[in-house]
Amino acid sequence: ATNKLWGGRFQAMATPDLDRFGASIEFDQAMAKEDLLGSLAHVKMLKATHILSATDADQIIAGLQRLQAKLAAGKLEFSLANEDIHMNLEALLTKEIGPVAGKLHTARSRNDQVATDFHLYVKERLPQVITAIKHLQRVLLTQAEANLETVMPGYTHLQHAQPISYGHYLMAYFAMFQRDVERFEFNQQHTDLSPLGAAALAGTTFPIDRALTAQELGFSAPYTNSLDAVSDRDFALEFLSNAAILMVHLSRLGEEIVLWTSYEFGYLELADEYATGSSIMPQKKNADYAELIRGKSGRIFGDLTGLLTVMKALPLAYNKDLQEDKEGVFDAVKTILPCLHVMAGMLATAKINKTRMAAATERDFSNATELADYLATKGVPFRQAHAIVGELVLKGLQTGTTLQEIPLAEY
Ligand code: ARG
Repeated sequence: ATNKLWGGRFQAMATPDLDRFGASIEFDQAMAKEDLLGSLAHVKMLKATHILSATDADQIIAGLQRLQAKLAAGKLEFSLANEDIHMNLEALLTKEIGPVAGKLHTARSRNDQVATDFHLYVKERLPQVITAIKHLQRVLLTQAEANLETVMPGYTHLQHAQPISYGHYLMAYFAMFQRDVERFEFNQQHTDLSPLGAAALAGTTFPIDRALTAQELGFSAPYTNSLDAVSDRDFALEFLSNAAILMVHLSRLGEEIVLWTSYEFGYLELADEYATGSSIMPQKKNADYAELIRGKSGRIFGDLTGLLTVMKALPLAYNKDLQEDKEGVFDAVKTILPCLHVMAGMLATAKINKTRMAAATERDFSNATELADYLATKGVPFRQAHAIVGELVLKGLQTGTTLQEIPLAEY
């Protein structure tokens, strides 16, 4: 036997290189809090079902609570040799309370344990993401209400199309972010299931109570199928694909902020704190953060593609490939929250150049459709009205006259 937690059937130890290769402690320690919560729920259930004696269970509970306090105080030290957060915490518990710690893993596997931790992690972050999107929506709504009458060019093909209001424009993004909220809310349903009790894959012969652990952890129910419980990462894929779609929206908005703040458009001017300068060109005021939000969409698409690729041909149930499921999700959480906050602050503080926006609609013939519509309401077939106005536009372009400048007599 070797001194690994699973070392009984082994005669030789892995080299430190191999330990490092297989270990996940460097990143899965982000789930330490969730792992302790999962273990507490598990041992409380073992006590309630008399699988463990009250004396043993109470000792384990007390030890886990001491670990919770140490974690909160930043006093837990993890080691690579203990591979992952689950075995690290079990080793630390053993240091805390002695060999009785070995009873905690009764009727449990790391496979349902890690799935439980990961569900808890995502479940806790979903409301944070939803709140951050709603905050951005509130900024959009406030700005839109203040700009119902702020005329600006509407574009198709990035060519002036028809005049719109800045409020109308902003509410398009409000609608996109509303769908993002709804997608993350739907994601909550699939994250709100407890894998605990599935054990390695087949459940357990112990008379466990999965409803009790589910309830203790705040999940609405246990999974219905144990193989699914340990190998399902749909909730994480959904989180990443929702994050990717959200980043598409933020990136489009970021792109337009870059355009609107350029010299050529000049529709918006960023507040100084939301802009940056140049190390060489003294006059520069760049929309760096809008660009960075646009750029960060790339890493989120990468996170999604990464996990889709990990999952695509995995046989049931648990495979070590699944250890690769976490970093992309952690990265996505760390990325989308600041993107949402920065975007909200940037829009709330930007100066809107109403004169410039309105002026851009004055000599661009963007009222041509309305003129054609007017003729159509007078009985001219729309195709003919379109042709007439087209000729008027051509003449206007040649003589430097806008449609609103042609006298009625000439019409
Ligand atoms: N560190 C592992 C992971 O993140 C925990 C589960 C390990 N289970 C196993 N059968 N090797 O997926």
